[in-house]
Amino acid sequence: MRRLIACSVLGAALPLVLGGCAATMGAAQDQVACARMMAGGFRVIAAERTSRFLGKVSADTARCRGGERAVQFRASPYVDWANYWAAGDAASNSPGSTAVGTHFDANGRGIDGALLDLEYQRIELIKFNLFDNSGTYREYVEGRGGVAGPALKTWEAMRLPPGHPGYEAVGGQGEQLCRGELIRFRTLDGTCNDIRNPLMGATGQPFARNVEFESTFPDLGRDELARNRHGDRLSLLRPDPQVISRKLFTRTQSQPGKCHAGEGLPGDAADGHCDYKKAPAFNVLAAFWIQFMTHDWFSHLEEGHNQPTMIAAGCATQRRGSVDAPLTPAEIAQLGCRSGDRVDAAYIAEDRAPNAFVFQGREYLTRAYKTTRNNVTAWWDASQLYGYDEPSRRRVKRDPTDPAKLELVPASSRAGNGEAARYLPVFEPTDPINAQWAGQEATAFPDNWSIGLSFYHNLFAREHNAFVVAFREQVVRTPDADCGLRNPAHPGVVIRYRDVTAAELFEVARLVIAAEIAKIHTTEWTPQLLYDEPLYLASNANWSGLVHGGDAASAALATIVLNNFGRSNDGRQSAQWYSVFASGPGIFGLGSHVYAGNGIFARYDPGKTDLWSLENPQHVNGGVNHFGSPFNFPEEFVSVYRLHALVPDLIEYRDRDGDPKVVRSKIPVVETVRGKATEAMRARGMANWALSMGQQRAGSLTLQNHPQFLQNLALPRLPSATGRIDVAALDIIRDRERGVPRFNEFRRQYGLKQLRSFDDFADQRLPRGSPARAEQERLIALLREVYGQHRCDASKIITTAQRNDEGTRINDCLGYADGTMVDNIEDVDTVVGWHAEFTRPHGFAISETQLQVFILNASRRLFSDRFFTSSFRPEFYTHFGVQWVTDNGPYGKMMEQGRPNGHEMEVSPLKRVLLRNVPELQPELEHVVNAFDPWGRERGAYYSLQWKPRPDAASDPAGRE
Ligand code: HEM
Repeated sequence: MRRLIACSVLGAALPLVLGGCAATMGAAQDQVACARMMAGGFRVIAAERTSRFLGKVSADTARCRGGERAVQFRASPYVDWANYWAAGDAASNSPGSTAVGTHFDANGRGIDGALLDLEYQRIELIKFNLFDNSGTYREYVEGRGGVAGPALKTWEAMRLPPGHPGYEAVGGQGEQLCRGELIRFRTLDGTCNDIRNPLMGATGQPFARNVEFESTFPDLGRDELARNRHGDRLSLLRPDPQVISRKLFTRTQSQPGKCHAGEGLPGDAADGHCDYKKAPAFNVLAAFWIQFMTHDWFSHLEEGHNQPTMIAAGCATQRRGSVDAPLTPAEIAQLGCRSGDRVDAAYIAEDRAPNAFVFQGREYLTRAYKTTRNNVTAWWDASQLYGYDEPSRRRVKRDPTDPAKLELVPASSRAGNGEAARYLPVFEPTDPINAQWAGQEATAFPDNWSIGLSFYHNLFAREHNAFVVAFREQVVRTPDADCGLRNPAHPGVVIRYRDVTAAELFEVARLVIAAEIAKIHTTEWTPQLLYDEPLYLASNANWSGLVHGGDAASAALATIVLNNFGRSNDGRQSAQWYSVFASGPGIFGLGSHVYAGNGIFARYDPGKTDLWSLENPQHVNGGVNHFGSPFNFPEEFVSVYRLHALVPDLIEYRDRDGDPKVVRSKIPVVETVRGKATEAMRARGMANWALSMGQQRAGSLTLQNHPQFLQNLALPRLPSATGRIDVAALDIIRDRERGVPRFNEFRRQYGLKQLRSFDDFADQRLPRGSPARAEQERLIALLREVYGQHRCDASKIITTAQRNDEGTRINDCLGYADGTMVDNIEDVDTVVGWHAEFTRPHGFAISETQLQVFILNASRRLFSDRFFTSSFRPEFYTHFGVQWVTDNGPYGKMMEQGRPNGHEMEVSPLKRVLLRNVPELQPELEHVVNAFDPWGRERGAYYSLQWKPRPDAASDPAGRE
C-alpha cells in the first residue's frame, strides 16, 4: 500500500513520480493531458477563502486522472475525484485493466489524484474552517506575542477556573501544567488531556463552529448577507418542519397494513413489513454503531432533557411560492402531522450580542450569535461507557468482587459460550437517573436507549472484562516483569505486572477500550461507510499512515519534513502542512517515540534509542496539534450526524439455535427502546441480536426514508397534548435553534460548490428517463413545492465565502438574469440538503457534504488527543495494552485469507471483539471481512455494491430482495 500522496503533494518528490508516470500512460489523449497538467505544476494552497480548492480540477487534470468521463462531469457542483479511474467499482478501472496496480498507470493516477484532492481539502479546511466559541478567536486572527494565531498552542480560556477541584494542582493563578495523578489516565471530566490546556475538551465546554460566525443563525437576520440570502422567509418554524418531514422524509409504504407506522404486526409476526430504501453495503450494526459513537462525542441535552420551556413543533403552515399559508384541517389530515406536538426548547449557553473587533481593516465577531455547550467530554474516551461527570460515573457499576472489572450479571439460561460472559445489571431506583431510564441497563449515557445501544454497551463491557482477565493471565505468566506502566509522581519506579492495582487496571482498560473503539471506527466503520479505494486508503492513513517506509516516496517525505517543516518558524506554514506530513506515518501514535535528530513524524524504529520521557512535558504532550484553535466538535458536526434514516422500522429477527437463515419474526425497533431494549436483549441474547443486525441492511441516507416510528415517537419527558414528537422535524428545529447555516451557504463555507437550483441535486450520471433519474426528479419537484421560489434581485450580494468562477460576487440570482423566478435553494435546511444529494462518490452511504465535515473533524479528534498521539505509550497503557490495541487483541495479529479489494488485511478489530466476547458467532463470522458489511453479502472483486448473497447464504430471504 505504498500510496503516492507524499509524492503528489510535496513538490520535491515530483520527479520521482512524473518520469515513470509519463512512461506508462495509456490513451494518447490522456498522455497529452497529463503532460499539460504536469507542466502547470501543483496548485498552491489558497491564500484567501474565496480562492480555495472546491474539489474541481482543470480539464487536463480531470482527463489525466479519469479520462473523458471525468471531463464530462466537471460542470456539476460535485467533486471531481469521484469520477477518476478506479475510484468506483471494477467498471471504473481504466479500459483493459482489472485492478489497481502501480502509481504510474491510469488507475494509479486516478487513486493518487483522488487522495491528493482529499488532502488539499483537508489542508484548506484546517486553514479556513476553525472557529472557536470559547473566547480564543481574536487571538487566532491576530496572533499573540509575534506568534501567528494558527501556531498558538495554549490559551487563557483553556485554564481551569478558580473553584475547579484541580485548580491548585495544575498551578492555580500561575502557569498551568497538569501533572501527577491528573495526567496518568483519562480523567472523568476530560480535563488535562492536553496537559497545558487543562480545560480543553472537558464536559460543559462550548461547541465550536466550522463556519464563519457571521453565517450562523441566518434566521435572526443580524447579518446583511443572511438577510439578502433568505429575505424574510425563515424562522424557527418556517418553512414548517413537520411539513418538511411528512413530505420529504416519510417512507412510502406498499403495504401500510403490515407496517402500522412502524409498529409491525401483533406478536412480531414475520409477515409484518415496512418498506425502506436499503443501503447496499452497510448493515444495522453499522447504524447503531454510530449512535453509540455520538453519545461519546457530544450531547446538547443534560441528563436527557432540554430547557423547561416548551415550544411548538410545526404542522401549522405550508409554503406557497414564498408565502407561508396556514394548513387547513384537511391538509393536516392528509399530511398526517400533529399540530399539538410540543418540545422542550434547546439549551443556549450564551445569547448576548457577541463582541466585534477589527483587524487589518476587516471586522470580525468574537463568537457566534449564540453558543451551546457540549454536556459530555469531546474526547474519544468511551465516556458513554465510563462517565463524563459525577452523576454519570455513579451510574457505572463496578464488579464488587473485582473493582478492575465492570459488573456483569447472569441473565440468561441460553446455551452459547458467550452467555457465560453475562450482561450489564439494570439501574436501581437509588441510581442517579431520570424516570424514563428506569429498567435499562446501568451505564453512563443512557439516553435514547434501544436494542442497538444495549448491544454495544454489553459488548464493550464484556471486552473491558476480557482485557482485565487477559491482563491477569499475563500477571501469572510474568509477575516480575516490568509492565511498562509508570506513576508520573514517581516516574523512575518500575511497576511490575504483579504490582498493578485493581484501580490502575480499571483505568488502563478504559484507555485500551477507548483506543480500540477509535480504531474500529477509523479502520472498519468508516471504510465501509465510504466504500471505495481512495477512502479506504485515506481512512487507514489516519490510523497507520500512507507511506510505509523503505521506498523513495518515504525518503522524500522524511527529507521534506526535516527541511521544511521541522525547522520552519512560520506558524501559518507549519499548521498548513502538518496534516500532509502526518499522513505519512499516520496520526495515531504521532510523537510517541522521540529519536535524536528526528521530528515528530518519525516512525517507530526499534533499532534506535527512544528518548521519550514521562518527565518531559514536551514528550508527554508533544504529539498533539490543535492548529491554533482549541478542540471541540462544531455545531455543524452534530448536524451531519443526524443519521436517523439508517434505522429500519422492523428488525428481521434471526435465531442461531435453529436455522440462522430464517427470519423468525419482525420486531419493531420501537418495541426495543428504553427499558424494553434491556428485556429484549436478555430474552433473546447477544448472539441472536448480533446475527440479526449483522445480516440486515441499514436504511440509506436519502429523502423519504425516515423511520416511521421516529416520526411518531412517544417521549415521556414531554407534557404536551400528544406526548409525541416527530424526530425528523425535531432534527430540523434543533439545527435552526443552534444556528446551523442553511445547506447552500454550508457548502460554500466548507469549500464545496454551491447549487444553483433544486435541479442540481439530480445525478447527471444517470441517463435521462431512467427510473432512478425519474424518481430523483419527483423528489426535486417536492423540494420545490416545500421550499418555494422567489423573484431574484441581482443587487443583493449573499456571501463572502466564495465567488463566481469569473471572480464576481455571488448574488441572489445565482447566475440567472435579474428578476428571474429562482428556487429558494438558499433556504434548504442542511439536514434536508445532504439527504437530497443524489450525486455521491461510489460506495458512499453519506453525501460529499457530510464527508467534508468529517475530513476535518475526524482528523482533529485524533490530532488533538494526547492519548492517541504522544501518550500512546506503555507508561499509560502498559506494554500489554499497547499490544492489544496494535494487534486487535491478544496473541498477535491475525490476517484475513486472500486479498479483499486487493489488500492484505488484518482480521478487523470489531470482528475480533465479537469473536472474543460472543464466540458462538464464529460460524457466522467466518466469511465476514468487515463486520459492518451485511454478513451474508458476496463482496465481489473490487468494491462491488451489488446486492448478492454469498453461495452459503443463498437461502436467506434477504438475499432474494
Ligand atoms: C432507536 C433509535 C433512536 C432513537 C429513539 C433516537 C432518538 C432521538 C431523539 C428523541 C433525539 C432528539 C433529542 C433532542 O434534541 O431533544 C435524537 C437526537 C439525535 N440523534 Fe437519535 N435516535 C435514534 C437513533 C439514532 C442514530 C442511529 C443516530 C446516528 C448517528 C442518531 C443521532 C442523533 C443525533 C446526532 C442527535 C442530536 C443530538 C444532540 O443534539 O446532541 N440517533 N435522537
